[in-house]
Amino acid sequence: MPLHIIRNDITNMKTDAIVNAANESLLGGGGVDGCIHRAAGPALLAECRTLGGCDTGGAKITGAGNLPCKYVIHAVGPRWRGGNHGERSLLISCYRTSLALAKKHGCESVAFPLISSGIYGYPKDQALRVAVDTIGEFLMENDMTVFLVIFDRTSFQIGEKLFPKIISYY
Ligand code: AR6
Repeated sequence: MPLHIIRNDITNMKTDAIVNAANESLLGGGGVDGCIHRAAGPALLAECRTLGGCDTGGAKITGAGNLPCKYVIHAVGPRWRGGNHGERSLLISCYRTSLALAKKHGCESVAFPLISSGIYGYPKDQALRVAVDTIGEFLMENDMTVFLVIFDRTSFQIGEKLFPKIISYY
């Protein structure tokens, strides 16, 4: 199965691309965004400055500075505002746009964090379902190895409950 849910720090992933849970400025922030920029070094921020930001639901691709991957795909997830403000379709769009960018750049492997499920407050179980469903749909039509990289214990426990067949231990 080319989708794996694993527990790791995404900055360790040696996939062709890793995805960042960014904000519309694309100029860094806390959470996984902070970890990625710290590990990549200043070259990543310098490249991000040239991109002119990104709309929510979209994604843009850069090089990866000092990270072990080749590309960083900066996806902008929605802030959770109760669930009736188009959050789900915006989150689906993040995954689809990121996967399309990865494909366009010839990536054979990509690692995603659980976009929107931290500072942006998207309920973790729902965020995980959207991720697995949207990536699963893409993998029906495309050859790629995709990792969903879970960092915090709660998300990983939800993953083990909801998707016991695709959990891998690394
Ligand atoms: N590796 C993998 N996953 C991680 C890591 C890591 N090193 N660090 C955190 N996570 P968040 P969001 C998980 O808050 O909710 C930033 O300030 C974390 O446990 O990083 O999309 C941006 O600039 C959670 O499950 O992103 C935006 O302003 C998941 O990554 C805003 O936060 C996403 O949490 C975006 O918020």
